[in-house]
Amino acid sequence: MEVIAMASDHAGVGLKSQLKEYLAERGYDILDFGTNSEDSCDYPDFAHPAAEAVENGTANFGVAMCGTGNGIQMTLNKHQGIRAALCWKPEIAELAKQHNNANFLVMPARFVNYDEALAILDAYLDAQYEGGRHQRRIDKIPVK
Ligand code: RB5
Repeated sequence: MEVIAMASDHAGVGLKSQLKEYLAERGYDILDFGTNSEDSCDYPDFAHPAAEAVENGTANFGVAMCGTGNGIQMTLNKHQGIRAALCWKPEIAELAKQHNNANFLVMPARFVNYDEALAILDAYLDAQYEGGRHQRRIDKIPVK
């Protein structure tokens, strides 16, 4: 069974809990790194542990959200083993998996409704990495 690391701040916690239920229904195990309240908080406190879980193999990939998606994506992408893609349309999520082999799907919780988020999530989950020329490019991403 695949394990998903999830993280959000207060702006994304509502969407996180909705998507968490959906992902459990789809048969995934969830590691929820928080936050778990709507009290104002700092997204790096939750993004870093979630990124570490994916980097060290405790989780297969991750799903994260904050208000715009930018802060949490910026934090995740500080980790050399993380490729976090900010996605606001299903087509972008599909390409993020097909071309970038994104190992974190990030969504802007204040700018997508639940139905849009589900469509983005399904597009990411159902897409397959294409490898080939994309692997050469991905290999050049990490800072040595
Ligand atoms: C929180 O108000 C907001 O700044 C945060 O969720 C996110 O959008 C930051 O990038």
